[in-house]
Amino acid sequence: MTKSILVINGPNLNLLGTREPEIYGAETLDDIKNKMTEKAETLSLSIDFRQSNVEGEIVGWIQEAREAHDAIIINAGAFTHTSVAIMDALLAVGTPTIEVHLSNIFKREEFRHHSYISAAAAGMITGFGAIGYLMAVDAAHNMLK
Ligand code: DQA
Repeated sequence: MTKSILVINGPNLNLLGTREPEIYGAETLDDIKNKMTEKAETLSLSIDFRQSNVEGEIVGWIQEAREAHDAIIINAGAFTHTSVAIMDALLAVGTPTIEVHLSNIFKREEFRHHSYISAAAAGMITGFGAIGYLMAVDAAHNMLK
């Protein structure tokens, strides 16, 4: 059976392509969605790709993932550094989770060095730009084998 991965993008990631391209790259979120979907198909995985600027909506999606998805790939954007609620939701559902960041959060401002998501993630991919999302599909594939 095809396994399903929920891909969650947090605040401001809808602006990719025009948002600080020197940090986040020139690709849009749609470009990333298309590449992930293509790669997932080659591995017999399906991708449910979402973005929200609203913390509570992301918490709701994570809660639903317990029933509906086999793994979660999440770039929580700025909520990475602030959201106990998203961390708690991930810990509560226990769905295997991979954390992604386009930029290398450890090379940036001090407030970006701490991630609440990491406490609930199997691992983090950070600093490889949009390719990091494709690396996360590989990681999910391995975890679900
Ligand atoms: C980000 C890094 C965060 O610090 C930032 O708030 C983002 C994007 C990244 O993908 O590099 O919105 O998660």
